[in-house]
Amino acid sequence: MQEKKQMSQETLNTERYTRTWFVERAKNSFKKLEDGKWDFSDSLLLYMPSGEEVYINVQNTDTPYYKLVTAPEHEYLKDIASQVVVELPDDFVFIDLGPGTEHKEQFFFDACKNQNKIFRYVPVDISDYYLRLAKDYAEKQSIPTQPIKSAFEELPSVLTDISGPRFVSLGLTFSNYNSQEVIRLMTAIAGSGGYIFLNTQIKERIDMSLIREVYQNIVGDLCKDKLELLGLVVGVHVSELRVDENNRTWCTILQLNDELKALGVVIGDEILVLQSLRYYKSDLERELEKTGLAYTTYDTGETFVASLIKV
Ligand SMILES: C[S@@+](CC[C@H](N)C(=O)[O-])C[C@H]1O[C@@H](n2cnc3c(N)ncnc32)[C@H](O)[C@@H]1O
Repeated sequence: MQEKKQMSQETLNTERYTRTWFVERAKNSFKKLEDGKWDFSDSLLLYMPSGEEVYINVQNTDTPYYKLVTAPEHEYLKDIASQVVVELPDDFVFIDLGPGTEHKEQFFFDACKNQNKIFRYVPVDISDYYLRLAKDYAEKQSIPTQPIKSAFEELPSVLTDISGPRFVSLGLTFSNYNSQEVIRLMTAIAGSGGYIFLNTQIKERIDMSLIREVYQNIVGDLCKDKLELLGLVVGVHVSELRVDENNRTWCTILQLNDELKALGVVIGDEILVLQSLRYYKSDLERELEKTGLAYTTYDTGETFVASLIKV
């Protein structure tokens, strides 16, 4: 009991992620994509207090987001979790990147129980709220849990005291990232002999215009605080946000401020504020092939296809 309590307190580095840290992260993650276009799609910056609230609300079961994304994903994960767990060692560390609110980890918990696999649960998040939610949920099931408050990008240097083979799950958050960039990060987190789990909603199996409509209705609130990290106000410094056919969210610069001037932005430039990508199955396979790592995809014909990559 003493040892478990010791672990949880030690790894909860509370006050590193201050407002100043988020502002610096915002400036550092703002990158040129091409002339006139800038990448500000950093997903971490979405999950500050106001972003959390929006994300929690879209998960309400009567929302189009829940019906189009969350509910079918639950059904899918229920179908494939045991097939994934069969591939894993008998004793491993389950590193859950961004557990969120939907407790999708439960499908893996149940499969491990059914297959007598032993695991320690390590939820990782920048948000205290989500971290506490995941910790309490797992501990109620007497699962040894070690929450880590960290940016995913800083995790490789934080995980030094965690031994044993790692199963690193990013789930659907994979859609918020550039695929090769985040797979490289997850390879560093998993380490040699580790496993990476990604989930993807397949473009040719869903109505992308419906997905686009769902995001068009939430991005305004979801991205408000993130833009304010750069002192940007929608309708003043930037245009209303618009979601394109690839489910990328953009805005146009209307008025410069010191932060933007310092970053070399000019009026009329476009900023990518959020991406929640859906892949054609063939494109997903191409991205997985590019890693040069062994992988398995789980295609049940449903709208999701998950991948397990062996590092
Ligand atoms: C969209 S939610 C996803 C929740 C869940 N994994 C799922 O698939 O439904 C994303 C979660 O990841 C966290 N997050 C996103 N990017 C992060 C980063 N770079 N570092 C730490 N936490 C991050 C957010 O705080 C949030 O809890």
